[in-house]
Amino acid sequence: MAHFPARVFSGVQPTGNLHLGNYLGAIVKFVELQRTHECIYCVVDLHAITLPQKPAELKASIREVTAAFIAAGIDPRAHIVFNQSQVAEHAELAWVFNCVARIGWLNRMTQFKEKAGKDKENASVGLYAYPCLMAADILVYRATHVPVGEDQKQHLELSRDIAQKFNLDFSESIAACGHGDAFFPLPEPLIQGPATRVMSLRDGSKKMSKSDPSDYSRINLSDDAETIAQKVRKAKTDPEPLPSEVEGLARRPEAENLVGIFAALNGETKQGVLKSFGGAQFSAFKSAFVDLAVAKLGPIGNEMKRLNADPAYIDNVLRDGADRARGIAQKNMAAVKDILGFVR
Ligand code: TRP
Repeated sequence: MAHFPARVFSGVQPTGNLHLGNYLGAIVKFVELQRTHECIYCVVDLHAITLPQKPAELKASIREVTAAFIAAGIDPRAHIVFNQSQVAEHAELAWVFNCVARIGWLNRMTQFKEKAGKDKENASVGLYAYPCLMAADILVYRATHVPVGEDQKQHLELSRDIAQKFNLDFSESIAACGHGDAFFPLPEPLIQGPATRVMSLRDGSKKMSKSDPSDYSRINLSDDAETIAQKVRKAKTDPEPLPSEVEGLARRPEAENLVGIFAALNGETKQGVLKSFGGAQFSAFKSAFVDLAVAKLGPIGNEMKRLNADPAYIDNVLRDGADRARGIAQKNMAAVKDILGFVR
């Protein structure tokens, strides 16, 4: 198949607080990829409205995700940061993909089933077509690599299927338009390992989630040092000291979670953490944990606070990013129209 230059694309929904799970599961990787790739990071507001949103909260969330990206170390000048709705080509290509994807493919999407709940008849058409919009997000930039969590793997596979079907269905026209044997790359997921699955601080068997009613279940990226320290001190543990080997974490979900978070924040393995803390009581481990979490996350919270006070700056970042993203997207969308046989 034709060769496509490497380009990273990923999206984060602006729905509620970003927390440690989003940070370790996605944003850390986004930051790292900037060193080796051209990156486009998108706040996917069009995806957000597949479920009901309150306009004022949506606006605040779009700015908050942007602030978190910047505070965590994403450089919006060297790369592109923008919100999806400012680049109309996402929605335009999504329509084309609605006509490429098959109903049978979408019927297999497990996330739709979860999000639609019992009353599927009452789910929005947008929620059903969500994966086609996600494919358009990636492919309107002909991106090759997509850092996502495990839960998005199926959507990424659907994006590949859509790219492949488009390439096949229109192969003659693609060649005639001068694009060789394929117009879209087949985007590859970059999935974070299970080591970075961050669980609730109140229940080690549940994922850390923005929708958990207890704020003590999660560390929000906007939390200040004192709040982080309090949440760590209150985090659920068990009565045993820490084991010396990772095998000893089996059936100890809270211990496993805290050790995993510590390892991820400190850039080491769980075994490495246990080498230092095996045999220690939780009280000693937690005080080291507070120091580490405050050192790594405190500055992000402070920077977010500073940025949240300056919405004009954030809006400028998004507008500038959207202008540059649009430049790429318009060019690719024009090529798609030629391939499809539209007059322009
Ligand atoms: N569906 C993704 C999520 O909920 C967000 C998303 C939208 C995305 N478009 C994308 C992720 C494109 C990667 C690439 O996490």
